[in-house]
Amino acid sequence: MALKVERYERIFLYLTVVVLVAGIVAIVLSVAEANIHLPSTEDRIDPRRVEETPPFDDPGVFQAGPDEFQAVVIARAWSFEPAEVRVPAGAEVEFVITSADVLHGFLILDTSVNAMVIPGQVTRVTTTFDEAGEYEIVCHEYCGIGHQGMFGKVVAE
Ligand code: CUA
Repeated sequence: MALKVERYERIFLYLTVVVLVAGIVAIVLSVAEANIHLPSTEDRIDPRRVEETPPFDDPGVFQAGPDEFQAVVIARAWSFEPAEVRVPAGAEVEFVITSADVLHGFLILDTSVNAMVIPGQVTRVTTTFDEAGEYEIVCHEYCGIGHQGMFGKVVAE
């Protein structure tokens, strides 16, 4: 005896399978294509020794290639070090960030950079500043009484 399934119920079942498969495909693609993954142990550092741990023993902006820069930034309550990142317009900049105390945020206005800065973890985000100008860096994770005043900036010139 064949199982009788209502028409709408059958459609709903098919849709459920479609959504599940789409979700699994999205996860597989995000790992395989976009290289999105959980924070790895490789990028862990001792949060009590940030100032002694390379590259954070020397925060600042470094040229990494013809049009590539690396900005090593320490976030701490309630500022970024360095407070200003200066790069040529059009440069690709990799931000390497960690926190010396609590959880902070790292959002650069008018770019796709939007990251969390976790004590003990190194955060890496890369973006290109195509247009010259000033880009505000905002801490967008509540980090204490001075949170609303925690800013930095990128100057692309
Ligand atoms: Cu740092 Cu909010």
